[in-house]
Amino acid sequence: MIRVALVALANAKGSPGTTTAALVLALQWPRPVLLVEADLAGSSILAGYFRGQLPHDRGLQPLAIAHSHGDLEASFWGQTIPLVRNDPDKKLLPGIVSPHTAPAVANLWGPLANQLVALERGGIDVLVDLGRLGTGGVVREDREPLVRLADQVLITTGSRLPDIAVTRELVKSRTSVVDAAARELTNLTALTVGPGRPYDAGEIARTLGLGTVGSLAWDPVNAEVLSVGSPAGRRYSTSPLVRSAGPVISRIQDRTEKRRARFATGPRDGGSGSGPHRPPEYADGGSRAAQAAGQRRDGGGRA
Ligand SMILES: Nc1ncnc2c1ncn2[C@@H]1O[C@H](COP(=O)(O)OP(=O)(O)O)[C@@H](O)[C@H]1O
Ligand SMILES: [Mg+2]
Repeated sequence: MIRVALVALANAKGSPGTTTAALVLALQWPRPVLLVEADLAGSSILAGYFRGQLPHDRGLQPLAIAHSHGDLEASFWGQTIPLVRNDPDKKLLPGIVSPHTAPAVANLWGPLANQLVALERGGIDVLVDLGRLGTGGVVREDREPLVRLADQVLITTGSRLPDIAVTRELVKSRTSVVDAAARELTNLTALTVGPGRPYDAGEIARTLGLGTVGSLAWDPVNAEVLSVGSPAGRRYSTSPLVRSAGPVISRIQDRTEKRRARFATGPRDGGSGSGPHRPPEYADGGSRAAQAAGQRRDGGGRA
């Protein structure tokens, strides 16, 4: 079976679409998945996708407090919420309330990264929305353990020249040599949001010196179903945005397999869903299909 453990998404300053990409990938993901909001700018999923209808009382901040008491693992699942009502296979770990809270979770990132990698033993894949990623330099990037441990870090970029220019600076700051050798080694991978305006995913990846998992369609109306919780129209599930997610997911799985084979890291264990980190909801072993499209999400709360 194809195993994908930890996939992060990040963007350079001024190149949006990352949270929407993380959501559409999580909703279409074919296996149990946890989406982690690790954007230092604060949670946007509770206010957007959930339309502000859920209290922001769970997530990274309470988890950081639990960690300070040595209870990270025991409290982990209690800090998540269902991403889709009545679907135990899709969960969200909400992010921080605002950028001012970032220092409160600064010590959490390393232990959290290890905890997320361990979830693989329970057969759960993890998508992490990093939001804007630092270019190194003056601002310390506390989330470096997440970046390092990820099987892939999808660098999302628009296809307009200014988007590509800022993204190129980010990639350059994180790969010492942008050449074929670096392309083999780095876990950074390009994900284009809205190709053809005018550049396509292949051209962009070449400019960045990265491999690519392809692109998500430019689809403003259906993107708002995810980014601001607009009601999903009848055509949402067959919209360009949703349809473009499937091939991207396949390429993520494919690249992860190849990368692991290359570095001989293999799946990090041989089990298939019975590990100690599996949350209670997964105990029946039934992996539900990704039938997220069009379901109402306003019933959040505990699974
Ligand atoms: N694929 C897309 N096509 C069209 N508009 C999009 C797409 N993805 C995101 N958007 C829009 O761009 C804006 C920012 O999206 P968001 O995902 O929140 O970006 P980020 O997380 O990078 O800040 C939102 O208004 C959203 O609806
Ligand atoms: Mg975002």
